[in-house]
Amino acid sequence: MQALIAAPDTEDGIRLVEVSEPVPQPSQVLIEVRHASVNFGEVRYLGFQPAGSVLGYDAAGYVVQTAADGSGPAVGERVVAFGAGAWAQRAAFATDSVAVVPERLELAKAAALPLVGITALRTLRAAGSVLGRRVLVTGASGGVGRLAVQFARLGGAYVIASVGSAHRGEGLDALGAHEVVVGLDRISEPVDVVLENVGGEHLVTAWGLLKPGGSLQSIGWASGEPAVFPPNSIFAHGSAKTLQSFGDASHPRPELTTLVDLAARGVISVQVGWQDSWKRVGDAIAALLGRQVPGKAVIDLD
Ligand SMILES: NC(=O)c1ccc[n+]([C@@H]2O[C@H](COP(=O)([O-])OP(=O)(O)OC[C@H]3O[C@@H](n4cnc5c(N)ncnc54)[C@H](OP(=O)(O)O)[C@@H]3O)[C@@H](O)[C@H]2O)c1
Repeated sequence: MQALIAAPDTEDGIRLVEVSEPVPQPSQVLIEVRHASVNFGEVRYLGFQPAGSVLGYDAAGYVVQTAADGSGPAVGERVVAFGAGAWAQRAAFATDSVAVVPERLELAKAAALPLVGITALRTLRAAGSVLGRRVLVTGASGGVGRLAVQFARLGGAYVIASVGSAHRGEGLDALGAHEVVVGLDRISEPVDVVLENVGGEHLVTAWGLLKPGGSLQSIGWASGEPAVFPPNSIFAHGSAKTLQSFGDASHPRPELTTLVDLAARGVISVQVGWQDSWKRVGDAIAALLGRQVPGKAVIDLD
């Protein structure tokens, strides 16, 4: 079968090659992958992947072999999955990281959901109820951001979406943002929750915008810039403000089930801003790192 592997000797750092078939563990299903998605972290840190390893984490396709332990979906089911080795014609996934995709949802859209959706759901939930609260989403134009805006709005929040330029903010109001702002300078009132994707200066400024008792969920560091906190800027009168890390996408079947259900019912919109053959994955990577993809990049295993 064919797969996209880490190839540090190439310009893109990726090569489409023939590899051996995966051998599922007893608790894994084998999936024929039809679509996969490209995540920022996977491509920004591509150079850290061991040469020859099969890349990718988000996939959607059909079950071709059930798990030996009897768990998980049956052969022929349409599924979405999260786990290493997704950019391959066939991939093995733990059944606790797989969910059945409802008929009404296209597989390509399902493939866009796993990592960004698990992240947006888990961090917003970690921040507690947002009903009637002010939520700031930074890097709102990206994959995590476009879902986080929708989830915060669904949760009853007043949603502020921060982007890098007016063009990058297009469509965020329709997704539920009450305000779309370029940068963070024009936010005059404090917020209760921040879902922070950019890092660097954004992290420092967003911390300063947080109310006493507020929660900042540090999701990503897309800027790659250092964050310099002025002396005493962490001190705050009143209830403690918290800065919480996120890095746990394990056992995500419940979240995957929620994501595909919400998308199938039209409660959330899956924003695919780039879709083409996996032979053009280099273009997807360039577009993503160049901040040109509104939402997700999806590759078709054609
Ligand atoms: N902790 C975890 O487990 C976890 C899980 C998923 C994602 N992440 C991280 O979360 C971040 C967002 O992920 P994503 O999938 O949403 O990525 P994405 O789709 O590429 O979106 C990232 C957004 O960040 C903004 N951005 C990029 N470079 C920037 C820069 N130099 N300065 C300011 N803003 C910049 C861009 O918005 P504008 O173009 O509008 O500025 C872009 O839309 C990434 O850092 C990713 O690695 C972490």
